[in-house]
Amino acid sequence: MLEFAIQQEEIVDLPFMAQRPRRNRKMGAIRALIQETHLAAQSLVAPLFIVEGQRQRQPIESLPGILRLSIDQVLLEASGLYSLGIKAIALFPSISSEQKDRYGSESINPESLVHRCVKALKKHIPELCIIVDIALDPFTSHGHDGLVGPEGYILNDTTVFQLGRMACLAAEAGADIVAPSDMMDGRVAHIRQALDKEGHHDVSILAYAAKYASAFYGPFREALGSSLKFGDKRSYQMDPANSREALREIYLDEQEGADMLLIKPALAYLDIVSKARQITQLPLGAYHVSGEYAMVMAAAANGWLDADRVFEESLLSIKRAGADFIFTYAARRIAEILQKRNRV
Ligand code: PBG
Repeated sequence: MLEFAIQQEEIVDLPFMAQRPRRNRKMGAIRALIQETHLAAQSLVAPLFIVEGQRQRQPIESLPGILRLSIDQVLLEASGLYSLGIKAIALFPSISSEQKDRYGSESINPESLVHRCVKALKKHIPELCIIVDIALDPFTSHGHDGLVGPEGYILNDTTVFQLGRMACLAAEAGADIVAPSDMMDGRVAHIRQALDKEGHHDVSILAYAAKYASAFYGPFREALGSSLKFGDKRSYQMDPANSREALREIYLDEQEGADMLLIKPALAYLDIVSKARQITQLPLGAYHVSGEYAMVMAAAANGWLDADRVFEESLLSIKRAGADFIFTYAARRIAEILQKRNRV
């Protein structure tokens, strides 16, 4: 006989409950039937960091489990991801400081690391969707996404012109999607025009429409050695205090010809994802960024959180808010979990 503080016969005056939502939660099979949002490997994009060399697998201290890979290793990793159901990757080149200059010249070198990597990937796994980031920060000595003018102000139009060149080179190498992440004005329109002029009508533009000046990008900058040498990115990335401004950016990128939109970061901006979902018919993604991944991994290393469960819950929340697809460093581990679960 179990001992309860309250005895059955004492429960007398509870109001009649026609509605008992718990009935729908009483067993796994019913919970599965009524599940509203689903995670699938095919909605995840894995960001990959690339370096020069052979057989390079360099750990990144602030991103446990994520490596900088040389092209031969990117091919292996991409095949592994593809067989787990992850059909899209985003490439970020980590180049040496000797290759960087204040113009980010390496961004428009047709033989640069990222272009060689795209060519190799296209040959190796043609059906994999390759997304190339379009911004100058991996290539500039100062770490800004654009060219620097007098008094350190980031020049818009000259930068946009260089981004157009960069997008064409990515397209020529075989990129399926180019993703301007720089937040310069008018870059989507210019990139569309530049691509079309060179016959790349079928290359899509995924616009980082609402990208905030966020503290969550720290580990990414460590991975690329692109930490800022001066200033901050607030004259081009958005103020975390603003949401109407994000809707305006979304409207403009849509008008300029974006094929898909991205909101970044993700968890602290779920209201923006949700509002964006309501005002656009375009496919919408969110970037669960490096700092969001690093926080969880750090807590997990201390035994304070279960990383896999936190990632799954986080990614579900991002989808529930309205994202169709998610860029995340947890892509591989989540796809592994989903694959295991589907086997039983
Ligand atoms: C830069 C770029 C950044 C990220 C993607 N592209 C960093 C920045 O704007 O400083 C961050 C991604 C991440 O933190 O995972 N164009």
